[in-house]
Amino acid sequence: HRPADQDIQTLIFAHRGSKCNRPENTLAAFREAIRVKAEGVELDVHLTADDELVVIHDEKIDRTTNGKGLVRKLTLAQLKRFEAGSWFSPEYSDERVPSLREVLDLLNELDFKGVLNIEVKTDHYDYPGIEEKLSQLMTAEPWDFTHLYSCFNPDTLARLKALEPEVETSYLTYNRLKNIRRGASSDFIASIHPRKSFAFKHPEEAGILNKPIRLWTINSEMQMRAAFHLNVAGIITDYPEKARRIREEIER
Ligand code: G3P
Ligand code: MG
Repeated sequence: HRPADQDIQTLIFAHRGSKCNRPENTLAAFREAIRVKAEGVELDVHLTADDELVVIHDEKIDRTTNGKGLVRKLTLAQLKRFEAGSWFSPEYSDERVPSLREVLDLLNELDFKGVLNIEVKTDHYDYPGIEEKLSQLMTAEPWDFTHLYSCFNPDTLARLKALEPEVETSYLTYNRLKNIRRGASSDFIASIHPRKSFAFKHPEEAGILNKPIRLWTINSEMQMRAAFHLNVAGIITDYPEKARRIREEIER
């Protein structure tokens, strides 16, 4: 059941693209997220050795490509020699690690009008200059979609907020109440992205935070229903198509 007197406001964010049925963080995954009409797309950004913004989850390329090594030690050209889809299924062997610019162009081409959630992966390495690079790219053109920055590292969010005063900055965190409350009271943080267990264990707390909440990673039908019932601002899910179907069922 949804709250009796409210419409569901919860937006569906495709985690690393449509991660359930495409190789994560590839153009194929983002194309699928748009096809199933996810209102939001989440991706992860690192910096290469030659200071290019690239979209991949791990610090190392080992898990999701046929290469080895740290993203920060490889140039974009070196990274592009490896393919990023076969580990998932042979039919995606043409996929490469995309640059952020390539993803933005794809979203534009597909007429995406939703929210791009750019997770900045400065939790292991600082990637000096990544905030300037990001904000130059994101403000270079009037994209039709809006973007927000999410990050586990609050220093990165503070820097991005100083560079782009109008941008939404989202604090990514596990479920420690202390961190969540600190995020809720920081003026450079606009919204909180806690691990799902936070909202399920402390629904009252989730309701009284003065900032929008988006939960990750909400994959089961039960969790989706619980998140829609709490009417959080968003869920970040590997199953955007299923999430849309369930939300429509509840709304009917
Ligand atoms: O945005 C939520 C989620 O992406 C954070 O964790 O490790 O999947 O990037 P991770
Ligand atoms: Mg992420």
